[in-house]
Amino acid sequence: MTEELNRYIRLIPKAELHLHIEGSLEPDLMFSMAKKNGVNIKYKSEDDLRAAYNFNNLQEFLDIYYAGADVLITEQDFYDLTIAYLKKIKEDNVIHTEIFFDPQTHTARGIGFDTVVKGITRALHVGKEQMGISSHLIMCFLRHLDEQSAQETLDLALGYKDKIIGVGLDSSELGNPPSKFANVFKRAQKEGFLTVAHAGEEGPAEYVWEAINVLNVMRIDHGVQSINDKKLVAELVKTRMPLTVCPLSNLKLKVVSDLKELPLKRMIDKNILVTINSDDPSYFGGYINQNYIETAEALNLTKDDILQLAKNSFTASFLTDAEKKYYLDKVDAVDKELRKQSHPANIM
Ligand code: ADE
Ligand code: ZN
Repeated sequence: MTEELNRYIRLIPKAELHLHIEGSLEPDLMFSMAKKNGVNIKYKSEDDLRAAYNFNNLQEFLDIYYAGADVLITEQDFYDLTIAYLKKIKEDNVIHTEIFFDPQTHTARGIGFDTVVKGITRALHVGKEQMGISSHLIMCFLRHLDEQSAQETLDLALGYKDKIIGVGLDSSELGNPPSKFANVFKRAQKEGFLTVAHAGEEGPAEYVWEAINVLNVMRIDHGVQSINDKKLVAELVKTRMPLTVCPLSNLKLKVVSDLKELPLKRMIDKNILVTINSDDPSYFGGYINQNYIETAEALNLTKDDILQLAKNSFTASFLTDAEKKYYLDKVDAVDKELRKQSHPANIM
C-alpha cells in the first residue's frame, strides 16, 4: 500500500459500529485486574495467553473471551476497560462509537447490572467531554442462553433507557437462529429500544433473513454470508440495510481463510451500506485502522472506497439526521484537505 493511502486511512474521521467492550480487554489489563481482584487466570503470563489466541471457529474464541471477562468485577474495572478502548480509538480518528456489552456474562457471576452500566457510561461521558468521541451503548443478549434469560435482562434494562439505546444478539450463532428471540425483540422495540443482531457470520444467509423479517432489526452485524443469496443482496441494497463487517475477526475465526476472500469490495460495488469494524480488537489483532489497512491491502481498495466506508459508518449509525450531517460534512472536509495535500499542484 502507498504511504499516501495509509495516511488517508489513518486520518479520515470514522465511526465504529461493532465493538464488544469485553473484547477490547488487553492482556496487560486482564492480568492487572486479575491480580487486584484475586481472580485466577489459567494462563501463566501475557505471552501464554496471547499464544492461546489461535482460533478455529467462533466457539473457540468465545470460550476464551468469556473466561477473560471474569476479571471484571468493580464499576472501576468497567470504567478502566472502556477508557482504555477510547484511548485506542482516539489514535485511529474514530469520532463516534456504538459499543456492545454482554450483561448476562456479568450478572451470571453476581455482578450488578448497575455496576456494569455505570462503569461503562461514566467512561463514555469522559470520552465525550474530554476526548471528543460521541457514543451510544447497545446491550446484547447471549443467544446460547434461552429467551427467558434475555427477557429478564431486558427487564433490568428498562430503568436505563437514558443510557442504553438499543439491544443486539451475539454469541454462538449456529443452532441459535434469530427467531429464537422473536418475543424479546418485539418487547424491546415496544419499549423503544433500537435493534441490531449478529447474523450471517458463521450462520447461513437464512439467519440474515430471519433477523430482518422476524426480529425487524435496523442493522446486521457481520452479514458476510449474505453475498451467497442474490435475493438477499437485492433486499439489502433496496432497504439500505447496514452491514457491520469485521475483517480481522472473520480472518481470525476462519470465516474466511484469507482477507482476499472477503466480499467487502463486491459489497461496496453493489452499493450495500457496508462498514468496517474491529469486533474484539484485543483478540483479533487490531483496532479499526488496522482492519481498514489490512482489508485495503488485500482487496486493493482505493481512496474512494475508503471514503465511502467512512461515510457509510456515520450513515449507518444511530446518530440523528442532524448529527449525521455534521459528521459527514466533517469527513468531506478532511477528505478534501487530504487530497489537496497529496496533489499540491491542484490547489490553484
Ligand atoms: N461476541 C463477541 N464477539 C462476537 C462475535 N464475533 N460473534 C458473536 N458473538 C460475539
Ligand atoms: Zn461481534
